[in-house]
Amino acid sequence: MTQKHVFDFKEFPALETDRLKLRDMLPSDVTALLRHFGNPEVVRFIDMQPIKTIDQANEWLRWMGGFFAARDGLRWGIILKGDDCFIGSAGLHNWNQEANYAKIGVDIAPPYWNKGYATEALSAVVQFGWDKMNLNRIEADIVKGNRASMRVLEKVGFKQEGILRQRLRKGGKYYDVYKFSLLRSDLVQS
Ligand SMILES: CC(C)(COP(=O)(O)OP(=O)(O)OC[C@H]1O[C@@H](n2cnc3c(N)ncnc32)[C@H](O)[C@@H]1OP(=O)(O)O)[C@@H](O)C(=O)NCCC(=O)NCCS
Repeated sequence: MTQKHVFDFKEFPALETDRLKLRDMLPSDVTALLRHFGNPEVVRFIDMQPIKTIDQANEWLRWMGGFFAARDGLRWGIILKGDDCFIGSAGLHNWNQEANYAKIGVDIAPPYWNKGYATEALSAVVQFGWDKMNLNRIEADIVKGNRASMRVLEKVGFKQEGILRQRLRKGGKYYDVYKFSLLRSDLVQS
């Protein structure tokens, strides 16, 4: 089958929404990353412990840039327009170019919660997935109890499709993980 032209990783793509800029993460973001991923509220439902040092923040920066370098995903920094402030990150990872799917994720700093920023950022990221990566399916794994995250996915149109029982082990405890997905064909149906 002929593949239509897809994103080629030549240049990191900046995205823009009404209130946000989504851009590549830079070495100058490392202090903001330390504050962000050092916050227990941000990592509560993520498979990691809060980071504590600049070295760990630099590792995160490398990890996030690693998707682009490996050409299997992208992680954007989310910047609030106007005051140019880093408020979180969002990404598409594990891009499977044979089956045309990828995994989506987002995190927003607590002072900016419940203002619609995650929904706005994910909508732009999803659109990038359809338009530039030729995705057919975008999936998300959400730890049971992460109600805000589930609500964001619902607002963007995702459907819950199953439960991975005790899929996450964190702090010695097992947690169920909900699988969500959005299909390109869901767009026409909704
Ligand atoms: C999940 C997260 C990204 C949401 O960011 P946000 O910018 O606050 O999201 P939005 O403002 O776009 O939408 C939040 C929605 O969740 C709802 N919500 C918030 N807390 C909730 C709760 N405890 N129970 C039910 N709904 C909740 C809000 O009311 C809002 O829905 P509404 O617009 O219908 O009122 C943010 O809480 C976060 O970064 N959490 C930590 C990181 C994380 O868990 N990421 C997900 C892993 S992939």
